[in-house]
This record gives sequence, structure tokens and C-alpha cells, in this order.
Amino acid sequence: MTRHFLRDDDITPEEQAQILALAATVKADPFSARPLEGPRGVGVIFDKNSTRTRFSFELGVAQLGGHAVVVDGTTTQLGRDETIEDTARVLSRFVEAIVWRTSGHERLEAMASQASVPVINALSDMWHPCQVLADLQTIIERKGKAAGLSMTYLGDGANNMAHSLALGGVTAGMHVTISGPEGFDPDPAVIEATRARAAETGGSVTIERDPRAAAAGADVLVTDTWVSMGQESDGKDRRAPFRPYQINTDLLALADPEAIVLHCLPAHRGDEITDEVIDGPASVVFDEAENRLHAQKALLIWLLEQ
Ligand code: CP
Ligand code: NVA
Repeated sequence: MTRHFLRDDDITPEEQAQILALAATVKADPFSARPLEGPRGVGVIFDKNSTRTRFSFELGVAQLGGHAVVVDGTTTQLGRDETIEDTARVLSRFVEAIVWRTSGHERLEAMASQASVPVINALSDMWHPCQVLADLQTIIERKGKAAGLSMTYLGDGANNMAHSLALGGVTAGMHVTISGPEGFDPDPAVIEATRARAAETGGSVTIERDPRAAAAGADVLVTDTWVSMGQESDGKDRRAPFRPYQINTDLLALADPEAIVLHCLPAHRGDEITDEVIDGPASVVFDEAENRLHAQKALLIWLLEQ
């Protein structure tokens, strides 16, 4: 059966550990693995803006010996009326994997249902699992491990990053706390899946309304934009209720003295994070951005071996 990577629990905890170990190997020796030599193709489709995901997949595929066909989804026939399912069947004849950034998660599920090659979620409204592989790689680089560490996410607890950090984090055995204003808690189905995973790994997930209690003693603090792509005019107040969840020096001072700070970027400086924190010694955000390349190369190598 073709393996896909649409959400963080599409891989087992053991498989996640294998991919993260491979990511470290690939980072140390970037040009050794050439599974796409030929060049064989990878389709990379963007229905939304991107900087990191676009550069890291296009260059990652090239470094693996392949060729990435990177397209804006609206310029393909998907942007007119060709079905996702027919597109999946056609692309499967051309490429070894399909990478897609889109809105509704069900669109990725439809693609995967008819693709005979792996489909990789490059961000949907529900999940951002490639980002969390890079986040875990960064945590392991700095802390030597992820299992058993506490990670607190502050901000929009209902967005793709909150969901993937919860599910991907507990898959790695972490204790994840999500802290955001009322009305912005994770999808209950995500919490259910996360608790199921936590039972396997010894990790845990907690929702904590009080940002100071959530930050207290944390090994890792994470945030993300308060306004995700597509939410610009959803009619919700995405500023005032979020203010107490900003990662600033006061909140960081409550975390473990050796705490690190992650942000998937792009950052909205002065909103979810201050300049002092993102440019300060606890911040690992640019290592995190770089690790998108290494983690995704490892993911591609691993998926192509399945
Ligand atoms: N973090 C992330 O996915 O960045 P891009 O939107 O620039 O790809
Ligand atoms: N939550 C953000 C992540 C951007 C990489 C969004 O979906 O816009």
C-alpha cells in the first residue's frame, strides 16, 4: 500500500524516529543520497503562498538527484474544473511523489485516495506535519532528545501548527501544552488522536488557558501567527484576545532557564513574538527553517523506500 504523509500520525513513533535520524545524517552529508537520480520527478503544488516550503522542496529534490515541477495550483487544470482524483491519477504517471499545499484537508485526502505515489502535505488548514519534523529535528539538535521534554505552544490553538505540534510532539514522546484564548482550542478530533498517540509513547497533551502557567518551566516555547493564511477576513478578533499569549521576555523568563523558542515563520514581530525574543539567545528559528530542507529530504528518501 502506498504510504502518504498527510498528518503527523501517518507515521508510527518508530518511523518518526527513523526519519529524524536520517534527517541528521542527510544534514551532515547533504549530497550522498541520490534516490531520484535520473532525474525522476516530484510534483510540488502550491495553492497558497510559501517561501520555506517552496525553496526546501525544490532544492531538496534537486539534491536527491531529481527534478521538482513546482507549480501554482491555480494555473493547473485543478484551478478550472479537473477533479483532484483525476489529477492524482495523471500525476502518478509522471512523478515519484506529490507535494501539495492547499486549504481543506479533505482535498489532500482525495489526492491520496487516487495517487499511486506518496502524497505529502505541505500545509493544509488542519495540519503542517513537514514543519513539525523540522521542529523536532531542531529540538533534538539543541537538547539531545525530544521524549520527556515539555513543549508549550502559545497562540491560535485551533490552527494547523497547534494541531501538528500536538500530534507530532506526542509521537516523539513530548509533553505538549496548548495555550490560547477561549474559542481557539484545538479541534476535539485532534485532541482525541493526540491522546491515543500519547498512550503509546508516554507523551501527553494539555490545554491550559493561562499563558503564564503554560510557559512555567517549559523546555520549548513555540508560537505561530494569530492569522493563518485564509483567515484574514474570518470575522474573528485575532488581536486583543491573543495579546496575553505573546512570547516576550516576561513570558520567556517563566520557562526553563535553558528553554529554546521555535516559530515556523513567517513571524509577525510585535504580535505573537517580540524582536528581543526572536533575535535573542533562546531563539532557534533560523536553524528550524534550515531543517525544513534536511527533514523533508529524509522524508522523501524514507517514503521512496516503502
Ligand atoms: N513555515 C512555512 O511553512 O513557511 P512558508 O509558508 O514560507 O513555506
Ligand atoms: N499557521 C500558518 C503557518 C504558516 C507556515 C498558516 O497556515 O498560515
